[in-house]
Amino acid sequence: DKAGHRHYMAKEIHEQPEVIAHTLAHYLDPDARTVRLNEPRLAKALAEAMRLTISACGTAYYAGLVGKYWFEQLARLPVEIDVASELRYRQPVYPENGVALYISQSGETADTLAALRDAKAHGQVTIAIVNVPESTIAREADIALPTFAGPEIGVASTKAFTCQLSALAPLAIAAARARGHMDLATENKLCSALLGAPRHIVEFLKQESRIEHLGGEVAKARDVLYLGRGVNYPLALEGALKLKEISYIHAEGYAAGEMKHGPIALIDEKVPVIVIAPHDALYEKTVSNMQEVMARGGKVILISDKAGIAAAGAQVWQTVEVPEADPFISPLLYAVPVQTLAYYAAVAKGTDVDQPRNLAKSVTVE
Ligand code: F6R
Repeated sequence: DKAGHRHYMAKEIHEQPEVIAHTLAHYLDPDARTVRLNEPRLAKALAEAMRLTISACGTAYYAGLVGKYWFEQLARLPVEIDVASELRYRQPVYPENGVALYISQSGETADTLAALRDAKAHGQVTIAIVNVPESTIAREADIALPTFAGPEIGVASTKAFTCQLSALAPLAIAAARARGHMDLATENKLCSALLGAPRHIVEFLKQESRIEHLGGEVAKARDVLYLGRGVNYPLALEGALKLKEISYIHAEGYAAGEMKHGPIALIDEKVPVIVIAPHDALYEKTVSNMQEVMARGGKVILISDKAGIAAAGAQVWQTVEVPEADPFISPLLYAVPVQTLAYYAAVAKGTDVDQPRNLAKSVTVE
């Protein structure tokens, strides 16, 4: 049942305010504005951890990459992260008192499961953020942390991703508290910001007809680049993955600062460059990379907030405005424009959005 939407993917994009709220409700106390961990072992493991190893595949890996920024910045917890198909064969060096975190919608991804088993065999405390509670990964992890996305039918992951972020953010706050790096006032501020995310996404989705129009423009391109910096760099990777898997347009995500080290050679007026740049501490840096692109004739679609769009100048080809919010939650908010843009590009191209060629929902082979 697509609840009146053309595709499951559209339905699942629109479900995000609700399922994010459900997931946050599990991990946050809305009155105290604090994180509640229902697992006593967890705070202890995070407090004592020498290092956190994170692994996953595809979109879940990009959620993990956002998590790396959060765990390092908030909790000063060193993070090692790799895609599961690499980590498991790499003979990674696991520390004593190590914690390992796996992220999976299905809980059945073969490489992620194998990476989890490897970490367990090396004495790591294993945590899994999983959407299917009765799945193998949820059962085998020492501690399973649920997401409440509900069944995800569209092959391209959308609501599972933002729910993974909605579990990771409280976990990073909890780690920060357990490690003595967060006072109550900061915890309250970050929890308030998280609890506001669903409302901001509802607000953003009101401009869908504009995104539909832009998706039609993106659909004309053969290649598209996505740029982001800091905690929004993984969003550039996720944006590119979404676009390629459902519209079959070649897309690449780059750290904005890497442009001048190679990919800028690709820029001409035929390659749209989607820049993800909220008006945060790194905005100026990303905008200077964006200006380098525009100076070479590149057509920029800037995804930012009101202040960011106002400061960007008139040379920008198109803008997408995301509600202003605490920079902490920008990965949650900026996921939605990249999903909707990919969705409408695919709709404009007439591809099979929910069942893209060559892809399966659950990858249980290695
Ligand atoms: C992309 C997508 C895939 C999955 C990946 C991991 O839209 O859906 O990249 O994220 O196959 O799947 P799970 O999360 O089930 O382990």
